[in-house]
Amino acid sequence: MRLEDFISKFIPMVEQVIKRNLEGSPEILYRASSHLINAGGKRLRPTILGLFAYTYGGDLKIASYPAASVEIIHNFTLIHDDIMDNDDFRRGVPTTHKVYGEAMAILAGDLLHSLAYRPIIDLRKHGVSDDVVIRVIDILNKATITLAEGQALDMIFSESHNIGESDYIEMISKKTASLFASAAVIGGLISEAGESDLEYIYLYAVNAGVAFQIRDDIIGVFGKSEETGKPILNDLREGKRTLLVIKAIEYLDDQAKKKFMSIVGNREATIEELSMARDMIRDSGALDYAEGRVKYYYSKALEYLERIRAKNHDGIELIKELTSRLAWRRH
Ligand code: IPE
Ligand code: IPE
Ligand code: MG
Ligand code: MG
Repeated sequence: MRLEDFISKFIPMVEQVIKRNLEGSPEILYRASSHLINAGGKRLRPTILGLFAYTYGGDLKIASYPAASVEIIHNFTLIHDDIMDNDDFRRGVPTTHKVYGEAMAILAGDLLHSLAYRPIIDLRKHGVSDDVVIRVIDILNKATITLAEGQALDMIFSESHNIGESDYIEMISKKTASLFASAAVIGGLISEAGESDLEYIYLYAVNAGVAFQIRDDIIGVFGKSEETGKPILNDLREGKRTLLVIKAIEYLDDQAKKKFMSIVGNREATIEELSMARDMIRDSGALDYAEGRVKYYYSKALEYLERIRAKNHDGIELIKELTSRLAWRRH
């Protein structure tokens, strides 16, 4: 099977579950909650979940329930993330708080967080055992706790000096890789993957998630808004301690560093100044370094993937293809 074929078969099933769970009143609350979901998105986390379910011979209908949950949680975190990051658009549309105001956007996120557990509870009607349902809830619940910790580190680091690469890796492992990993592990779990395979699936997905976030940070500075649907350079304006910024600070000489730091984190910085900071990131070697780390975490992810003893080799090939898309995407 081709990856595109898998996606066009599986994702509509997931969309159906999402849609069913996003109906209610007052209408404005549900409209605010659906705003980003309806604007699109790559649906990567449900795809990963579905691919692992497929790899272990699981039922895709069953997989579509937790896959919907993971995507709903992802969207909840994006709504709140855009408030935190002061971002005005995403997926090519104005962010939820820009359209509905901050108070309604916070509530829309809260609602999605709670609604996300409904499809998992529904699994019980489809013959999934209570033990598995509870384990799925446990995994997702832990992932969202970890994610909140990562988001807090993201905010704290923006105001801090001396943030190093290992701090950054810890932060992105928590804010991004945790949800990726939960999606992958749940796909295996509902399809009866063995315990040692679940461990390798987890390690695969954490490394793939880290590569994914480093790439996200690169395209947040060097990408094109028309392709990403998100603002470019805002991470620099907001003073985010991405790997690019951490390494630029390390590589630049004292004078250049002073200039760089007068732009990074300066909310009044102009586009010209932000572009100058971007050039400094490239010319200092920080961009090449970050590219090297994408490659490193991508390779590590594949090493763990090689260790799992899945029944369906076709599934593994599709996961490999998805992993390289995550690492080398432009949007
Ligand atoms: C955006 O995730 C948030 C990050 C963790 C970088 P995606 O790049 O998967 O966003 P969508 O769902 O495709 O919009
Ligand atoms: C992604 O954070 C992590 C979560 C949304 C939990 P970012 O702030 O780096 O992602 P984008 O660039 O806004 O999508
Ligand atoms: Mg953001
Ligand atoms: Mg953020």
